Formats: sequence, structure tokens, C-alpha cells
Amino acid sequence: MPAIVVVGAQWGDEGKGKATDQLGSDVDYVVKFNGGNNAGHTVVVDGEKYALHLLPSGILSPGVTPVIGNGVVVDLQVLFEELEALESRGVDISRLKISASAHVIASYNRTLDRVSERFLGKRQIGTTGRGIGPTYADKMNRVGIRIQDLFDASILRQKVEGALENKNSLLVKVYNRRAADVDRVTEELLAYAERVRPMVADTTLELNKALDEGKTVLFEAGQATMLDVDHGTYPFVTSSSATAGGACTGSGVGPTRIDRVIGVIKAYTTRVGEGPFPTELTDEVGEGLRQAGGEFGVTTGRPRRTGWYDAVIARYAARVNGLTDFVMTKLDVLSDYAEIPVCVAYDIDGTRVEEMPASQSDFHHAKPIYEMLDGWKEDISHCRSFEELPEKARAYVEYLESISGCRISAIGVGPSRDATIVRHALVPGA
Ligand code: GDP
Ligand code: IMO
Ligand code: MG
Repeated sequence: MPAIVVVGAQWGDEGKGKATDQLGSDVDYVVKFNGGNNAGHTVVVDGEKYALHLLPSGILSPGVTPVIGNGVVVDLQVLFEELEALESRGVDISRLKISASAHVIASYNRTLDRVSERFLGKRQIGTTGRGIGPTYADKMNRVGIRIQDLFDASILRQKVEGALENKNSLLVKVYNRRAADVDRVTEELLAYAERVRPMVADTTLELNKALDEGKTVLFEAGQATMLDVDHGTYPFVTSSSATAGGACTGSGVGPTRIDRVIGVIKAYTTRVGEGPFPTELTDEVGEGLRQAGGEFGVTTGRPRRTGWYDAVIARYAARVNGLTDFVMTKLDVLSDYAEIPVCVAYDIDGTRVEEMPASQSDFHHAKPIYEMLDGWKEDISHCRSFEELPEKARAYVEYLESISGCRISAIGVGPSRDATIVRHALVPGA
């Protein structure tokens, strides 16, 4: 009964989509358990590129049942746009299941996300502007709208009214915007009710039954460890639980059922949006890495900040997620360097620190301590086994493995499904 969790080990965009898609032929269910359409996963299948935001990457694998779990926030307009776009390209979308308890991103929360960022000025987070933070805030504040509310018009209206009670004062008096109209918002949401109804299921029951029957369930995180609301670089984080524990709360499958936790990690580091980033390269070397890796956001098109591999972050991700395996992506991007620096520890105000500092101010002061590794200066994108890699590329991976807290079971050498070197099978029994 394998249940496998896939999480991002850094600040997102590690290649979770590709890793999930690649396991697609070995799994029965792929569950998105956190976040919403702030995610952007690029998956390349037979030379065709797909950009997924809200839907689990498993939707591209025939035979997989994709599930949007209770921990997700759903923008209904985006849901149907994404489904239509996939359907027009011949993807079978008929098996998608959505939890009745998933929350809905209402238009006023998109507005609030954007205006509140503007008001933060220098302190802004650089959100994706999709309404993620305000929708999770409503959920915690117990004024959220859930998918199930769409099926009772009078309840829905009451809930929208409740949600807008304080928000309209905020919009009008603080942010100088127009108030949201209760009836208009209710109508907007109701318009999706009949289309979404056939997709709604008791996903918690179905997933637990599937595990009872020996089926394989893969939980796919959006965002990543360092963007997790508890374990990330707060407040420069997203508003959901992107670490492995989120797979349980965001799906209703208990922790005793999880067999594997796979951390996807790039052979270097990137970050989108604001916040601390110890190994960041703000010079032409960073620009070179951005160009070589095509590091531009799938969701907002923003250039990603780039830097060297950070083993302190890797060890932290291994710890807070209880990782059993790493999938290391984009090793091919490092093929042009004579020497590759790897951060092994931090210098924080003169002291060598091996583990992630517990205080955010210390993390802001962290200066990377680098070890220099030899580059391999050779194209590796055709390699399909570890033995085929040049000796120095193997040494790079083996050194990273020795300092990152967990084995590196697969290595990405290109964006396409098959451009992967598997060292240890990721799906037990596959
Ligand atoms: P996600 O959000 O974690 O799913 O990652 P993104 O899709 O946002 O970003 C990862 C990018 O790297 C995508 O454009 C992938 O096609 C690409 N990618 C994934 N793995 C590899 C790899 O091993 N090598 C190369 N060159 N590109 C990769
Ligand atoms: P995937 O799933 C990278 C970042 C935003 C911002 C912060 C908060 O593709 O790895 P939000 O809109 O979530 O409130 O923004 O989090 N962020 C991501 N960065 N990859 C993502 O998703 C991200 N989702 C959110 O840039 O800094
Ligand atoms: Mg992404």
C-alpha cells in the first residue's frame, strides 16, 4: 500500500512536476494537498510542454486519478480554464476528483492579495497575486467559502456576507477600493456549481480505501520547504503547509500510512519573490545560471533569483520532512563550469553554523561557507545511468549526497520525462 509524498526541498520550482509526471505510470492516484494556482509546474511529454498551475501533474498520465485535496485553495475560473486547455490538447480530464472541503478563492481575496502587497511597500513578499494568502487567512479565521457551500445558494450568500463584513470596510476605508457586492460575488461563485458538482467526491474516504486495496497514492506538494508557513523563511513564505506533514492534513490520510517522502532538489538553488537567500548570486555568474537553467517563473514570468547549492537547506529539508530520498534535478545545467562552489555551512557573525539557524535574524546574516568542487565540462543530457556520467559529475553527486542528509535516488539531466538517471526505485515494488 505505498503512499508516497513528493515535496520541494528549496524555495520551489525544483522540478516537482516532472518528478511526479515521471512516476505517473507507477501510481494510481496523484493528490495535490496544498496551495492553489500560485504553483507553476512545467512538464514535458513527447516534446510537448504543459504548464500546470492548479491541477496535479498526475493529470497528464493516462490511468491516474488526479485529486484536489481539502488542503488546496481553488480558483474556479482557473480550474475550468486549465481543464479546457488540457482537454483541447487531448488530455483525458474525466477522472479529476475534488474535495468538498477545499476552500474557494473568491474575487475579493484576489483583490486583497494585490492591494495589500502594494501597501506593504518595502516589506512586500512578492506574492503571485492569486489570492492565496487572504484565502488561507479566511480559512483559519473561519470565514472561508468551501466547495460544498456552492450547493446551497442561501448558505453561500450568508457566508459571502459574513466574509465581506470586515473586508469591505478594509477595502473601502484602508485601501481606497470599491466594496465587493454580496450578490454579485454569490452569483459569480454559483455560476460554477453545476459544472463542479460531478467532480466533487469524498476524497478522504476514496484515498484511504485505495490504500486499503493496495493501490499507490502519490501526494504532490506545491511550493516547498523554505516557503512552508511553519518551516520556511517566515514571513517570506506562502500561506500553506508545503512540507510532508501537509500531505496528511491536506488530504485526510494519516501519517502512519506514508511509506516514502521524496524531496526534489535542484543541483543549485533558485528563489522567486522576496526574502533571505544566503547563496544568492547577484552578479553575472547568477545571470549565467539563470540563462543556463531557463530560470523564469511559469506562473508570473518573473526572473528567478539564482545561487549555488546549499547543503544546510538540504539537511534542514531532510529533517523537517523526514525525507527518504532526494531527486536531484538540473545537473545538466552545471555542465559548463570548471569549478562549482557548494555551501556546506554558514558563517553567522563570525561563528561557523552547520544547521539551519532557529532565528530568522541569524538566517538573514548567514554568509555561505563554500567547498569548491571540480566541474565536468561535458554535456551529460544523454546519460541514462549513473555509470555513464563523467567521473567528476558522479563525484559532485556523491559529495552532495554525503552532506545533504539523505540518499540521492534519481538525477535529472534534462526537462523531458526520460531525461532521468534512476539509482534507487522511487515507487516500492514498481
Ligand atoms: P516545479 O514547480 O517544482 O514543478 O518546477 P517548475 O516546473 O516550476 O520548474 C522546473 C523547470 O525545470 C521546468 O521548466 C522543467 O521542465 C525543468 N526541469 C526539470 N527537471 C530538469 C532537469 O533535470 N534538467 C533540466 N535542464 N530541466 C529540468
Ligand atoms: P511551485 O509549486 C516558487 C512564492 C512567491 C512569493 C511567496 C508567497 O511552482 O514550486 P503566494 O502567492 O504563495 O502567497 O506567494 O511564495 N511562491 C513560489 N515560488 N514556486 C512556487 O510554486 C511558488 N508559489 C509561491 O513568489 O515569494
Ligand atoms: Mg514551479
